[in-house]
Amino acid sequence: MRRHSLAVLPGDGVGPEVIDAALAVLDAAQERFGFATDRVEVPLGADHYLATGQLLTDDVTATLREQDAILFGAIGSPKVAPGILEHGIILALRGAMKQAINLRPVRLYPGVPTPIAGLTPERCDLVIVRENTEGSYVARGSTVHAGTPAQVAVQESINTWYAVERAVDFAYRLASARRKKLTLCHKTNVLVEAGKLWLAVMEQVGERYPDVEQDYVHVDAMCMHLPVSPERFDVVVTDNLFGDIVTDLGAVLQGGLGVAASGNLNLVGTHPSMFEPIHGSAPDIAGKGWANPAGACLSMAMMLGHLGEGQAAAAVEAATTAVLAELPALAGADMGANTSELGQRIASRLRDDSAPPVKDSLMSDLATVMTGLRS
Ligand code: NAI
Ligand code: MG
Repeated sequence: MRRHSLAVLPGDGVGPEVIDAALAVLDAAQERFGFATDRVEVPLGADHYLATGQLLTDDVTATLREQDAILFGAIGSPKVAPGILEHGIILALRGAMKQAINLRPVRLYPGVPTPIAGLTPERCDLVIVRENTEGSYVARGSTVHAGTPAQVAVQESINTWYAVERAVDFAYRLASARRKKLTLCHKTNVLVEAGKLWLAVMEQVGERYPDVEQDYVHVDAMCMHLPVSPERFDVVVTDNLFGDIVTDLGAVLQGGLGVAASGNLNLVGTHPSMFEPIHGSAPDIAGKGWANPAGACLSMAMMLGHLGEGQAAAAVEAATTAVLAELPALAGADMGANTSELGQRIASRLRDDSAPPVKDSLMSDLATVMTGLRS
């Protein structure tokens, strides 16, 4: 039997709730498609930090490195000062596992309600490739005269040819397997030094992909184009900060933060990739059963694609989005079922062999592009 080793990091708040649901769906996928997973649960997060003072330790890093993939919920808590867990765990993990890009599909699935009036699934199918290791997220900077009216904060942004090129090259590769259009999203008119580097990389790498059309939009204009004319975009490549921001907007097009999936990909196969819903720990709804598990389930589907289980990936995607399309609301008390019941509903749909065959699966398309990334 095919076996995959998996580290599971549920994290904080709604993280464990949506991960439990995704694991119930994974159980069903394993039964139906005949593979197995060996799962090791890693207790990273606010409670673990408050109890032990530990963030990402060398021991945990070594354990994670052994796995084929990582399934991650969310981390963050009002009990811990901002930045400690985010830098000490989330960004540290992406760095330690050399996860060069964060892949964030923005697809509106048939029947799923969107707050954008008139938007249809045919018009909303793009993938955002976010550079995942540098930009403003490198934790470089300094403060002087803290606590006085003369306080000065410097927050640096690092852009290396190396990291930008690997993100842009992956984005071109993805675009050539899709509708052959790549858009750079940046702010080259103001962030001129970083902008020059990104533009030069786009041009140079673009020579290797002559059949891919190149486009450019400023990030502020992107916030207008994305809800109004998402059909303009096929693959979008952008830096760490802009990618973080525009993908929350992308999630809105898809039906909300609870629906959007992502993969932090190691492009060279030296360390495992990590799959997580794009939302955070949502302390405002934690414990209520109001979190939509779809983002976690679709992230798990992307993980299956990455592990070479393309059929299972497509089936999880189809089951998750079919259940989404039946919900009276996509989050909160009005969903008509709690997080765990939704996981069960998706799992039973998956076990039902009579479900219509999957056509047009984003996750299996992505799986094709991700093939070869794993060692
Ligand atoms: P958030 O994504 O946790 O929540 C934003 C809003 O979306 C909230 O109203 C929340 O209730 C809602 N929401 C989130 N997930 C949902 C789901 N599955 N179903 C339905 N509604 C959902 O972002 P926020 O509030 O800015 O951050 C909360 C904490 O999470 C912070 O500590 C933040 O640093 C952390 N965070 C962690 C991330 C990660 O682990 N990768 C990503 C983003 C934030
Ligand atoms: Mg974010």
